[in-house]
Amino acid sequence: AFADIIPVTMIARMIGIPEEMGPQLFTWSHAYVRMYMFGRTREQEEEAERASKEFSDYVKTVIAERRAEPRDDLLTHMIHTEHKGQYLTEEELVSTTIVLLNAGHEATVHQIGNSVRTILDSGGDPAELFRDEATTERTVEETLRICAPVHIFQRWALEPAEIDGVSFKRGDKVSLILAAANLDPAKFTDPLTFKPDRNEAANLSFGAGIHFCIGAPLARLELNVVLPILFERLAGLRLAKTPVVKDVYHFHGLDRLDLQW
Ligand code: HEM
Repeated sequence: AFADIIPVTMIARMIGIPEEMGPQLFTWSHAYVRMYMFGRTREQEEEAERASKEFSDYVKTVIAERRAEPRDDLLTHMIHTEHKGQYLTEEELVSTTIVLLNAGHEATVHQIGNSVRTILDSGGDPAELFRDEATTERTVEETLRICAPVHIFQRWALEPAEIDGVSFKRGDKVSLILAAANLDPAKFTDPLTFKPDRNEAANLSFGAGIHFCIGAPLARLELNVVLPILFERLAGLRLAKTPVVKDVYHFHGLDRLDLQW
């Protein structure tokens, strides 16, 4: 009711998709992210195929509308952005829009849930944790460190390399476990404890290097805005039931977080 609706509304508004489409965007994206999962069935694959076709057809209609009638939204900017005489093709516009819509909500939804749970589990006083902007920012960063929504990304070695005593040859596939880096005892003292006032390394929840999350500023902004509002409006917020962790491989998040206040 809370975590689901905010990120999809924000990203739809930014791109220029009517926000009433939120529930439909969810249905499409939930259908095709099943392609990332182990043990998927033929039926789920066909459903994913159907969803991606419907999703791209829908995005094409919005692109056509914006071409005819430009607005001040991201989609219009993407249509008109020119680089060395080149524009994005129709296919590039569709896939970029879909990747932004998808990336723009799934991870942030999970991180809102993870943050609320982490804060409640810590027993910290929300009035203190969200005292002002600087404190709020530290609280948000610490929840991102200790309970990141995206745990693993993969890379291929383009050339032989030796890193921390591990040898890689060209073509090796490497899994980077961001969540483990966030709990590295060489970087964070007492890494499993929630300590928003720690002044140590930055967390790696948004990755690093050339693929560093393009949406990090937006996700951070959303978290810094919505968490203080939730805790302020629902004073005495507490867990009503044991949180239900989502049984998926590609995200670390919750299926349900039942609360009382
Ligand atoms: C708490 C929320 C989020 C988390 C934890 C997160 C995490 C990440 C991580 C770890 C990567 C790096 C992937 C890699 O190394 O291959 C990434 C990439 C990316 N993220 Fe996010 N993300 C979040 C929110 C968002 C939002 C709101 C958007 C869109 C507005 C977004 C769009 C993207 C895109 C497009 C990439 C690919 C960047 C590239 O390959 O150059 N993310 N994200």
